[in-house]
Amino acid sequence: MKNYIIHDPWHIIENQFRAEHNEFSESIFSIGNGRMGQRGNFEESFSGKTMQGSYLAGVYYPDKTRVGWWKNGYPEYFAKVLNAVQWIGLDIRIDGMLLDLAQCEISGFERRLDMKAGVLYRTFIAEMPTGAVVEVTAKRMYHLFQSDTASLQYTLRVLNSDAEVSIRSYLNGDVVNRDSNYDERFWVPIAEDIQDDLVLVTETKKTQFRVETHLRNVFYVRGTVQASGTKSKEQCYVSEELRAHLNVGESIRLEKYVAIVSSLHHPLDKLTEVAQSSLAQIASKSYTELVQLQTDAWARIWEESDIQIEGDIAAQQAIRFNIFQLNQTYTGEDARLNIGPKGFTGEKYGGVTYWDTEAYCLPFYLATQAPRVARNLLLYRYQHLEKAIENAGKLGFDKGAALYPMVTINGEECHNEWEITFEEIHRNGAIAYAIYNYIRYTDDTAYLATHGLEVLIGISRFWAQRVNWSEQKQQYVMLGVTGPNEYENNVNNNWYTNKIAVWCLRYTLDAITQQQAQQEDCLYALLSRLALKTEECAKWQHIIDNMYLPEDSDRGVFLQQDGFLDKELIPVVELPAEVRPLNQHWSWDRILRSCYIKQADVLQGLYFFEHEFDEDTIRRNYDFYEPLTVHESSLSPCVHAIIAAKLGKEDKAYEFYLRTARLDLDDYNNDTEDGLHITSMAGTWLAIVEGFAGMRVRDGKLHFQTFIPKNWQSYAFHVQYRGTKLYIKVSQDDFEIKNLSDTEISIIFNEEQLLIEPEWKS
Ligand code: BGC
Repeated sequence: MKNYIIHDPWHIIENQFRAEHNEFSESIFSIGNGRMGQRGNFEESFSGKTMQGSYLAGVYYPDKTRVGWWKNGYPEYFAKVLNAVQWIGLDIRIDGMLLDLAQCEISGFERRLDMKAGVLYRTFIAEMPTGAVVEVTAKRMYHLFQSDTASLQYTLRVLNSDAEVSIRSYLNGDVVNRDSNYDERFWVPIAEDIQDDLVLVTETKKTQFRVETHLRNVFYVRGTVQASGTKSKEQCYVSEELRAHLNVGESIRLEKYVAIVSSLHHPLDKLTEVAQSSLAQIASKSYTELVQLQTDAWARIWEESDIQIEGDIAAQQAIRFNIFQLNQTYTGEDARLNIGPKGFTGEKYGGVTYWDTEAYCLPFYLATQAPRVARNLLLYRYQHLEKAIENAGKLGFDKGAALYPMVTINGEECHNEWEITFEEIHRNGAIAYAIYNYIRYTDDTAYLATHGLEVLIGISRFWAQRVNWSEQKQQYVMLGVTGPNEYENNVNNNWYTNKIAVWCLRYTLDAITQQQAQQEDCLYALLSRLALKTEECAKWQHIIDNMYLPEDSDRGVFLQQDGFLDKELIPVVELPAEVRPLNQHWSWDRILRSCYIKQADVLQGLYFFEHEFDEDTIRRNYDFYEPLTVHESSLSPCVHAIIAAKLGKEDKAYEFYLRTARLDLDDYNNDTEDGLHITSMAGTWLAIVEGFAGMRVRDGKLHFQTFIPKNWQSYAFHVQYRGTKLYIKVSQDDFEIKNLSDTEISIIFNEEQLLIEPEWKS
């Protein structure tokens, strides 16, 4: 746990240089623009603790899997979005000595992320071992207004004596991933050019993504633009150096503009042209103009997605930080991109896609962006359907059964833990649920006809083959799975997995019926292409009617899995603090035998299918499972917050909210240095909008059931819904609703039906 980020509503501020926590701060000060992003690394050389990381969305490498004992069906590789060209680098010498913060006395240090404008600032004063004292101010942006470009401005002033200063500004393509399985280098040098702008071309091994980076440096000495510096190149590295003699108080400034384009987005033979024109566009503007463009672009995002909290600056800062990170990770422009659990902020989880996207992130993008953004998230999976069928085939399923990967970038499974690859099949359910969620939210039923149904049929075929008939139970069962609670493996009849499987089958059959009424021709063409016959649907119905869903009738709870009650049910509060988190203190074997739940499992099902259960059932299950849950996945507390809010357990809901909201800023789990928990950030938004404000879609209508934490004066947010945009503000004794669109909307607000005219006020 750390507690040094200064509380401020719009800024993330660190006001002291803490070399020992630099990797934590690098994660916190990550910036990006959906297309690319970077950890908050320093521009100048740093010999202290650092994890260098600059990433380009979708540019990955299939790193050969490492396992002790190979088993059939293991994925061959773990895909990772690669650490890419280091474009911010500056070697700075003062009287010949390298400026390295680890070797200097540092004062006046401040790192500040302006979330409103999307600009990262840093200032410090460094006393060099030689006694020279310099002051640095730096700004950096990943442009939201032009997503293949970025820039920085770096100003250095000499404070106590005249000095010979040199700045070497470089592009370094010789970068590695810290988590590389075999210490491989993933990039191949292709070309370097220094004739005009500096150009570096590199290509990934195997996947052959070609990346061109074009850099223009503009140097100013004492405020005057200089002719270009001395350029040089070597393999995978280009640089330009400017030297100047500065008198006390004088400064040198560098503006560094880059365009980074890849063959993922442009034809190979157009890369140079695109990079040149992108670079020319940004370099023709002053830095002030660029900051303004960035501020305007972020203003448009904030207009849609900001949550305002009055009366609690820590909570305000946290929710904005979460929203900021989500928006800089995914902008929804390209259906081939997705949301890695750590976004562009670290290497863990490889920057690739998990069920997190569908289960947690989708509702955020649905409510805060145009439907196209959420639709692109669905299309990502639609495009991977063939691969999902192949994946299922590798595990022995056939006839069009689709098993989506637990971890993927290109549709292939690439996780190298067998329990997760083979058993954590509930991810298939979340992908189907996302289709349902998208359609009920947007009413885009056409999506079902054109894309959704085909995915649902593939998934249903998988479930129908994955269950088996138990003679003993005279019911269908599902054996050998891992549920969302990864602290149990190879269990039988995980309630959540069985439940979502049955739900998928039913939803698919309902969708077919619905399409019969609406798009008959289209439907029959699809069913005939997929050879889906009545008998197959009848089998699905039989499974729906006869699926075993374990429960304990005495306690009135669903059982996480067969045999759960055989465990010693000792509540988490009785565990000594020193053994937490369990995954860092107990053997895996001990964790598996224990009753402790890593993350919402039965409760995840109650959250998804809340409408099927009465409040008492939800309460009994919450009261039973919550005390056994250790929340060692960041995805857990938000689900508990939403359910606690629904049950009127307001203090608990608030406690869980805080746990997710400041998870990274305060480093609750001591792991922020690995990167930020981007996907759980969506859970923080959910905790407010679905938890505190109780937003639901039921029967085509938006419902709200609100409460407000005691220490807040108010909270307010916008949601988009089927062409309307609402502003909702909840205060201690009042509420305000505005309709910011031009059509009226009828909603249920705290059990009252309200017709909200455009710009209506309570
Ligand atoms: C969680 C998974 C999640 C993954 C990536 C794991 O710790 O248990 O549910 O998909 O992290 O966020």
